[in-house]
Amino acid sequence: MSFIQNTWYAAAWSREITRSLLSRKIANESIVFYRKEAGDIAALTDRCPHRFVPLHLGKLKGDIVECGYHGLCFDPSGACTLNPHGDGAIPRAAKVKSYKVVEKHDVAWVWLGDASKADESLIADFSVLTNPKFRTVSSYLHVQANYQLVSDNLLDLSHGQYLHPMFKNAEGPPKFEAEKEPQPDEVWAKFSRPNQLPNKYFQMLGFPKDQRGDHRNFMRWNAPSLLLLDVGMTGVNRPAEEGISIPTSHLLTPETETSTHYFWAMSRDFRQDEDDLSQELLRAGVALFDDEDKPVIEAQQRMINTQDLMSLKPVLLQTDGPAVRARRIVEAQLKAEQP
Ligand code: FES
Ligand SMILES: [Fe+2]
Repeated sequence: MSFIQNTWYAAAWSREITRSLLSRKIANESIVFYRKEAGDIAALTDRCPHRFVPLHLGKLKGDIVECGYHGLCFDPSGACTLNPHGDGAIPRAAKVKSYKVVEKHDVAWVWLGDASKADESLIADFSVLTNPKFRTVSSYLHVQANYQLVSDNLLDLSHGQYLHPMFKNAEGPPKFEAEKEPQPDEVWAKFSRPNQLPNKYFQMLGFPKDQRGDHRNFMRWNAPSLLLLDVGMTGVNRPAEEGISIPTSHLLTPETETSTHYFWAMSRDFRQDEDDLSQELLRAGVALFDDEDKPVIEAQQRMINTQDLMSLKPVLLQTDGPAVRARRIVEAQLKAEQP
């Protein structure tokens, strides 16, 4: 298995990258991130070409990283700027790869492939994360499973009825609407519960317990694995704007074949001033994934081990349609990058 190279991966929340050296493996590449004195972000291969010690164990001096072992220095372009030994000559091979990073929507995005193709406008729209109409809380989660298993989980929300007591509905699993006009590079998985009483989740958010309403879970997927869920509940047959809206962002970045960085955020357009509610939503959202989804997805990974899920010919239900389509898009992009 390999990973798409010419794509934007979420590398970190912007706030995570500071004047300290942050090491993070993205699609099997060890990268060290730091903020330059001018405020923009530098990203270098986190491996000194001398004796292969991780550069993040060294020191940041101005915009230069000094290796912690024998003191070779590297600038943000990856060039070696100082060899403190012998005649000080800098060997031609003394350089590291430098990666293109941009910040958008409070996220630092990294491009692993051909830098001349790194077009910022290709980043999927997550402006909800910085839209002042919403109050957003966010967190970083880690999963010992392939990123596509996490994406499959998010594209088939019928599991909420069985795995999450908070999302269980009195009238059974949600209605799945197959996509009428699928786009070539975007997938939608739409689940709805028309004319129903709120589940525990919407009750927690303040939707009146005995008032029926229309409940939606519309998930958008973009390559390589960036998901935005439009969650909301409104009166029966009433426009979405009249009800409450809680868009949640799920940015999945492969770390290795069997582990994933999961940048999670929840935005809301109501009770924005309530800090206690923000803390409660953050706690509940993280606990829901860590205690309920993550054990199942990690067990699934252990069960299939390093085999590719689709090669095992899984039983397919109608609700698997979006996840299968997303996998096909990734496969096609991987294929297009093969020499
Ligand atoms: S390992 Fe980095 S300078 Fe020797
Ligand atoms: Fe879940």
